[in-house]
Amino acid sequence: MSCLVTGAAGFIGSNLAESLARKGHHVVGIDSFTDYYPRQMKIDNLGSLMKMNRFHLVQGDINSVDLQKLLKGVDYVFHLAAQPGVRPSWGSNFKRYADDNILATQRLLEACKRVPIRRFVYASSSSVYGDAERFPTPENATPRPTSPYGATKLAAEHLCALYHRNFGVPVVTLRYFTVYGPRQRPDMAFNRFISGMLKGERIEVYGDGSQSRDFTFVGDTVRATIVAKETGAGTIYNVGSGKTWSVIQAISIIEEEVGKKAKVLHLRREVGDMTRTAADTSRIEGELGFSARTDLRDGLRQQVAWQGKRQVWAQATIKRAERERNRVGKSGSGTKGTGSQD
Ligand code: NAD
Ligand code: UGA
Repeated sequence: MSCLVTGAAGFIGSNLAESLARKGHHVVGIDSFTDYYPRQMKIDNLGSLMKMNRFHLVQGDINSVDLQKLLKGVDYVFHLAAQPGVRPSWGSNFKRYADDNILATQRLLEACKRVPIRRFVYASSSSVYGDAERFPTPENATPRPTSPYGATKLAAEHLCALYHRNFGVPVVTLRYFTVYGPRQRPDMAFNRFISGMLKGERIEVYGDGSQSRDFTFVGDTVRATIVAKETGAGTIYNVGSGKTWSVIQAISIIEEEVGKKAKVLHLRREVGDMTRTAADTSRIEGELGFSARTDLRDGLRQQVAWQGKRQVWAQATIKRAERERNRVGKSGSGTKGTGSQD
């Protein structure tokens, strides 16, 4: 089977593409390498994939590439490309959210009207619930996003539903709940906390840290996404662990895994941040037989190990560069550095 994964160089997209390729699928990944976080991280995410001959990368923007060419022979579309991040989605940043989350989705759906794909799996977000009506939150709760990001993810869900109803595009929508694990984006809480603690630096907690999340391990998220490709079209599923933890509780687990006490600086609550998320997972369990397997401590252990390795590698690279500078300085043949800005 042939799969298209959009956002394939990103956190979840690269994990998904790798898993699909390992299962024997042919995978085409597209990514525009937006500068929301360093390009080098995305290149690293693709490390193993680029060695697999079942994987092919297209560097390009969904808003401008030839989508008919991209979709040729594709059976399954996994649409994960987006501008993520809840808190920075206000103000002039919004244009980017509208372009990458709404316009790109509409363009892809429009192109999918004309190709016989089996499924179009759309990666939506728990952010569509905002301050939810009830907890745990079932898929039929009224969405009321609290951030512009959440509003764009909901707009894209509506577009998916419209293209399904009117043109038969076989869409399945997944609402991922705060995903973590190896390759997590550097703007997300656990990545920032682990990185700060490993370096012995202060970490920032927005508010008193009592806000809670249904944190979901990336391996579980990927498994749910692959299972969802076989289900009937037109359905929405929550993808969560079904358990909730406060930010402060998660920090105390990270302290144990890193082996250091956190130096916490409490800042103001951020506008748009949800107070609580909790997935009602009964639909995905009942209909797809999916339930999360990785508990928070095991998942955090894997993320700490991944970040620890990256940090050791980064320090070694800095030391090598320093040694090289000193050597060149001593031999008196110094050239002006060009310094990568990543
Ligand atoms: P990510 O930023 O790591 O990955 C998204 C990728 O999409 C990036 O590599 C980016 O370069 C690419 N991209 C953006 N716009 C593009 C465009 N127009 N054309 C081509 N490529 C484009 O983010 P992530 O955390 O892996 O999130 C993946 C998806 O899951 C997103 O749709 C996000 O909204 C959704 N989601 C994520 C979480 C989470 O906790 N990480 C939770 C809920 C939903
Ligand atoms: C995450 C993703 O970033 C979104 O892309 C995604 O759509 C969303 O999950 C979702 O599930 O819908 P968020 O829950 O804000 O959003 O994830 P984190 O960045 O990991 O933040 C978790 C909590 O930690 C938030 O309450 C946040 O305010 C807090 N936080 C974050 C801090 O206290 N300090 C930080 O340095 C970062």
